[in-house]
Amino acid sequence: MLVSATEMLKKAKAGHYAVGQFNINNLEWTKAILLTAKENKSPVILGVSEGAGKYMGGYHAVVGMVNGLLKDLDIDVPVALHLDHGSFEGCYKCIEAGFSSIMFDGSHYPIDENVQKTTELVAAAHGKGLSIEAEVGSIGGEEDGVIGMGECADPKECKAIADLGVDFLAAGIGNIHGKYPANWKGLSFETLDAVQQLTGELPLVLHGGTGIPADMIKKAITLGVAKINVNTECQLAFAEATRKYVEAGKDLEGKGFDPRKLLAPGTEAIKATVKEKMELFGSVGKA
Ligand code: 13P
Repeated sequence: MLVSATEMLKKAKAGHYAVGQFNINNLEWTKAILLTAKENKSPVILGVSEGAGKYMGGYHAVVGMVNGLLKDLDIDVPVALHLDHGSFEGCYKCIEAGFSSIMFDGSHYPIDENVQKTTELVAAAHGKGLSIEAEVGSIGGEEDGVIGMGECADPKECKAIADLGVDFLAAGIGNIHGKYPANWKGLSFETLDAVQQLTGELPLVLHGGTGIPADMIKKAITLGVAKINVNTECQLAFAEATRKYVEAGKDLEGKGFDPRKLLAPGTEAIKATVKEKMELFGSVGKA
């Protein structure tokens, strides 16, 4: 059964590790992530952007697929199904469809409007037992059409949003969606530290997990990050493994064109990436 992400992230923050949010795109992605979580006894959060939700047919289709896999694969670790960078309307759709967690990304609104909309969604989510993430500052780069300038969050604004009762908070600290450019300045630990000083026990979220060096990930966890989002890295791993399979001409050998064979190396590559991240984040054995 799906659970909200509140408890798993409270435990992670208290235990000084982070739970991975891995974004899903289809059945292979979802199966790979759930099986890896089970094999490594790790809690996990499945992230769904609005674009990915649409791609998979809609939010009800996503909920049906995930709930079915939880049952059929006997997934015995805590799993949350979370809307990633949701719009105001998207959040309501996911609450109705059966998600167990939502993110409202109001970072592009003036802070008063972000506060007002987040307040309303906190009540709607909590009324149905879902957890809710909010965002202050912005995550740089682009993800599924959501574009951010990457400005660091104002810690006082973080405190204002935290006080609305959100369950975890994404604060922009120089992180970027997608690959990091060669001239990237790195994470602003000064900002993260200031945010944590003001928001206390609230679990903090690090978006743009792809390509952040291990030492920065570990330092971010010591400063209160309890959820780390990874998307692009699984896409790159899947694409590379699939390309190798095709370039080696394996799809032309025997029944190598069978989708169950063609998509297998990519699926295994996602599993390996997710396992590596769970080990780095410290969530293995914490289910
Ligand atoms: P990456 O694609 O950079 O891993 O970012 C994922 C993310 O932050 C999802 O919200």
